Amino acid sequence: MKAVIFDRYGPPDVLALADVDAPHAGQGQIRIRVRAAGINGLDGKIRAGLMRELFEVTMPSGTGSDAAGIVDEVGDGVTGVRAGDPVFGVGRNVLAEHAVLDAWAAVPDGLSFEEAAGFPIPVETAFRLLAQVALKPGQTLLVSGASGGVGTAVVQIARDRGITVIGTASAANQGYLRDLGAVPAVYGDGFADRVRALAPDGVDAALDLSGTGVIADCIALTGNPSTVVSIADFTAPQLGAQVSYQPSDVPGALREAAAMYARGALRIPVESVFPLADAAAAQAHNSAGHAAGRTVVVVPER
Ligand SMILES: NC(=O)c1ccc[n+]([C@@H]2O[C@H](COP(=O)([O-])OP(=O)(O)OC[C@H]3O[C@@H](n4cnc5c(N)ncnc54)[C@H](OP(=O)(O)O)[C@@H]3O)[C@@H](O)[C@H]2O)c1
Repeated sequence: MKAVIFDRYGPPDVLALADVDAPHAGQGQIRIRVRAAGINGLDGKIRAGLMRELFEVTMPSGTGSDAAGIVDEVGDGVTGVRAGDPVFGVGRNVLAEHAVLDAWAAVPDGLSFEEAAGFPIPVETAFRLLAQVALKPGQTLLVSGASGGVGTAVVQIARDRGITVIGTASAANQGYLRDLGAVPAVYGDGFADRVRALAPDGVDAALDLSGTGVIADCIALTGNPSTVVSIADFTAPQLGAQVSYQPSDVPGALREAAAMYARGALRIPVESVFPLADAAAAQAHNSAGHAAGRTVVVVPER
């Protein structure tokens, strides 16, 4: 089968399309015929060699974790899914014609493979972060970097729970945030004052999704470091804030996201689509960090 691989750490152009043996579903896994794969920041960080301490890579390595497609192999011990079912989920090396998934859910009616492929890591992360800050309806959450993949999910899930969300993004994405249900603010110099003007009594918790040096300001805005969680700034604990990176209940998050989609409460727009052969361009586009919505790679139907 065709798969995107890299044989050394480096910039996006170390990625190449190659012929490799197709993987097979092991115990508790399924294999899919990949129709679309979502690009995450983590993919580029692993490829660049920035995550060596957390994610071991054997070269040559595949890339990508989020995918949607049609089940074509079911591993031992798996129930509730069979060949031919459309699913989306999380695996390894999913930028390929076939991929093995460790966690999945059924694609809900009406959700395209492209959009479904953009869901997994953003929705798992969003549910995990919201469980961690545990706000009640009527409380206020600040989300720094709210217009990306994770932010798009966090804002809608929080709003669905009756939480007020102040989200930061570039000037270009203020309307996008408003449409998601957030009160928008522009990031950068003076952002804490802009947030204070929107929430004079402060905010109850803050999420740093962009890792752009906002932890001290977030702590000043909540008044308590333990109510500040980052997913992208590993220096946050030095100031008493938390970093979250361990996935929690992935299948549960995927099922809950599918249910929210089905009742019209969650959309994660696809911002750009690349063919499998242009995976390097897709990862470069995503790493630039300014997409409103998701970057997705599509695999031609065979
Ligand atoms: N630890 C974990 O479990 C975990 C899980 C998922 C993702 N991540 C990491 O979390 C980060 C976000 O992921 P993502 O998929 O949401 O990324 P993304 O789609 O690229 O979104 C990045 C967001 O950051 C915003 N941003 C850019 N510059 C900023 C600045 N100076 N100040 C504040 N916000 C800024 C962007 O706004 P504009 O587009 O308007 O510029 C956008 O909203 C990535 O680094 C990713 O690797 C970690």
